[in-house]
Amino acid sequence: MSQYDPSLALKALTDWWDEMGVDADETQMRAFRKAAERAAREAPQAAPQAPSPAPEARLPRHLRKKTHEDWLAEARSLAADAQSLDALKTAIEGYDGCILKEAARNTACFDGVQGAPVMVIGEGPGGEEDARGLPFVGKAGQLLDRMLAAISLSRTENTFITNVNYWRPPGNRNPSDEELELCRPFVDRMIELGQPKLIIAAGGVAAKSLLQSKTGIMKMRGSEHVLKTPGGYEAPLFPIFHPAFLLRRPEEKSRAWRDLLNIQARLKDLEA
Ligand code: URA
Repeated sequence: MSQYDPSLALKALTDWWDEMGVDADETQMRAFRKAAERAAREAPQAAPQAPSPAPEARLPRHLRKKTHEDWLAEARSLAADAQSLDALKTAIEGYDGCILKEAARNTACFDGVQGAPVMVIGEGPGGEEDARGLPFVGKAGQLLDRMLAAISLSRTENTFITNVNYWRPPGNRNPSDEELELCRPFVDRMIELGQPKLIIAAGGVAAKSLLQSKTGIMKMRGSEHVLKTPGGYEAPLFPIFHPAFLLRRPEEKSRAWRDLLNIQARLKDLEA
């Protein structure tokens, strides 16, 4: 039997809140921490476990040969060399630095219109996206398409769709900071090559990663932010609720609708 670990339980809960787009306040965190500590005190003690292997030893053999910094440098160099979105896609598909690729069936790079005025950036592929090698093609993607259609946007006409991570994390967990860091040079280069007038970050994971912020989606949505790439491209960024969150919490659709109208108005200004 594995021992109950309050810090792991707390992390699982906050990850789940994150995924749901919920910002836990301090009172909620304190209450949960207390309950977790009480459960740990009352849980039967398990036999001591053998120490788990160092993270390095858990990596597949070919990943062990290079450090995280080496892989990051390689991602930066591959991204910088790509002179078109198709070349960038080939570079991402050939890149072996992100451990998520090991378990993924496909690389889901992008979909939609290259050079479109709007770029939607989500968190990363789920099951359907992994099977088809395309972003946002499952249930959440279908809702995203309907949300975009409500403000005259579509992936067949004027919208480009991608993610902050290109490989499905096992069990659909959130991508780790290290995994996101390795994908980031490709994300930045995709923005520089796609030159969107406006970026929509779908969900808290994407918004936090793109803006390098710890602020939750509840606070970030509803206002305009600015994304600047290392290559000097700048675009307004609007965080919105993730469509998967809206499928679970349809009562939040009115706030999502307000955000979409805001985006539509800003896009009109940018295109005037
Ligand atoms: N959720 C995302 O954030 N991206 C996808 O591509 C699919 C689901």
